[in-house]
Amino acid sequence: MRDPKRVAILISGRGSNMRALVEKAANYEVALVASNKPQAAGLEWARQRGVETWSLESKGVGKEDYDQLLSKALDDRRVGTIALAGFMRILSAWFVGQWSGRILNIHPSLLPKYRGLDTHARAIEAGDAVSGCSVHLVTEELDAGEVLGQTEVAVEPVDTPQSLEQRVLAAEHELYPRVLSEFVNR
Ligand code: GRF
Repeated sequence: MRDPKRVAILISGRGSNMRALVEKAANYEVALVASNKPQAAGLEWARQRGVETWSLESKGVGKEDYDQLLSKALDDRRVGTIALAGFMRILSAWFVGQWSGRILNIHPSLLPKYRGLDTHARAIEAGDAVSGCSVHLVTEELDAGEVLGQTEVAVEPVDTPQSLEQRVLAAEHELYPRVLSEFVNR
């Protein structure tokens, strides 16, 4: 039986949002940190804190075969909510259907602005005075599901994509645990 309060966090890299979700867990339990990159830095951090991890290199495995293995790993642990946190892999339609309405993602822009990559460079290029981050539900269309929460971050005239990223990332680390906690209780 899937339990909405048992959360799996999916990462591919450094995992700073994953760390914030583990450290600020309230109303939910991080049942698993999973990755499509066995070398992802965040996996070791999770293990050291006693959080169970699962990883399987996705390169060379068929998309749906991979997603079935991942889905089974989540079901085996009675996970009911999935938080994508820098998971650099598009999930199959099959997987999104299996977990419909139960997958969240954090995106570094004020959606619907700047879906996809290079959001900070695009916000600066456009001359935006405000950027930020969004937590949204995952649907088959990239970065297009219902927005569950957003934080605005001012863009300074001297900002580079890197400096803006740092401030938006700090905002992500506050926003994501709060929205996830509200989501599992609704
Ligand atoms: C963050 O910018 C997040 O918004 C995006 O991917 C990045 C992940 O960073 N989805 P981290 O691995 O959580 O540090």
